[in-house]
Amino acid sequence: MKILAIETSCDETAAAVIEDGRKVLSNVIASQIDLHAKTGGVVPEVAAREHTVKMLPIMEEALSEANCEWEDIEAIAVTEGPGLVSSLIIGTQTANVVSFVKRKMLIPVHHIVGHLYSTWLGHDEEIKFPILVLTVSGGHNELILIRDHYDFEILGETLDDAAGEAFDKVARIIGLGYPGGPAISKMAVNGDSRRFQFPRIFLEKESFHFSFSGLKTAVLNEVMSFKGDIDEQFKADICASFQEAVVEVMAEKVKRALNKFPEVAEVHLVGGVSANLRLREKLQEVIPKDVIFRFPKAFSYCTDNAAMIGAAAYFLYKLQPERFRAETNIIPTAAFEILSLKYL
Ligand code: KG4
Ligand code: ZN
Repeated sequence: MKILAIETSCDETAAAVIEDGRKVLSNVIASQIDLHAKTGGVVPEVAAREHTVKMLPIMEEALSEANCEWEDIEAIAVTEGPGLVSSLIIGTQTANVVSFVKRKMLIPVHHIVGHLYSTWLGHDEEIKFPILVLTVSGGHNELILIRDHYDFEILGETLDDAAGEAFDKVARIIGLGYPGGPAISKMAVNGDSRRFQFPRIFLEKESFHFSFSGLKTAVLNEVMSFKGDIDEQFKADICASFQEAVVEVMAEKVKRALNKFPEVAEVHLVGGVSANLRLREKLQEVIPKDVIFRFPKAFSYCTDNAAMIGAAAYFLYKLQPERFRAETNIIPTAAFEILSLKYL
């Protein structure tokens, strides 16, 4: 079954063709990074305007790269939220029109569920449940237990900033560009992670929630009160010390969750920050040998993309095939609904 998927939740205009939830026939992403680098972050109206320019050409490109005609496509999948509503509306309206005109069923997908399925892409082998997933993105940060397809339990989430947001803000504090994650992880390679003792916020012993705003403030205070030269070495040491604080907290939370749920068969790391090599390395250290550790097979599946939306749509369709038809009325939602309530 071939699905044409669309994703426009933030600043990437993306379309992909996915076969049977795993095979990526095409995955086209028009990034707006250069546009938003000028303002140091995403301006929603600017992002939305760019989506309107890019959406149709990107969709055509996804079809032609996959060597597909419209007859080959059985369904359209689209991110319905959460995200920037002005961005989401471009994707959902495109999907509504295409679904109606081409008579294809329409499968709305939760953006974070899309990330949860990003580890399925490009894999043939069996993936075993239960899966513990750490989602680390610019806009969200959760620890989720998946007992079976679409049986999600959120164990914890961020109480303030998401990890990616903290990377972006720290990058801004020390004058690195947007997005901050890749810039920080690159600089951290030459830094001393022990130079600054930034706080590790673990919250209560049993808590799987995250909090990164205190860490961000600690970095800000360190930089503001520093009397010496803010040279490249200082910045590298800030990056390494900050990154280590984030990564240690995440590894500890995963370790605690594995202790509480010893039946977990696999641990997955997804979302934009899953591109971070230090985070992957640290998680590998706390995951027992008999538990499989996966992250998305390609870097382009870590950050926002449409391929993951196509994968998530396929597995939802397989569970409830009678539920979907051609639609014209998918409207975006900015709300982060409780996943399990929505899908059970
Ligand atoms: O999943 P994503 O594309 O967007 C959201 O759904 O939010 O994640 C984007 C985030 C940005 O905050 C970016 O700084 C971060 O992922 N990121 C990284 C790395 N690459 C991207 N953070 C840390 N290390 C990286 N290598
Ligand atoms: Zn995302």
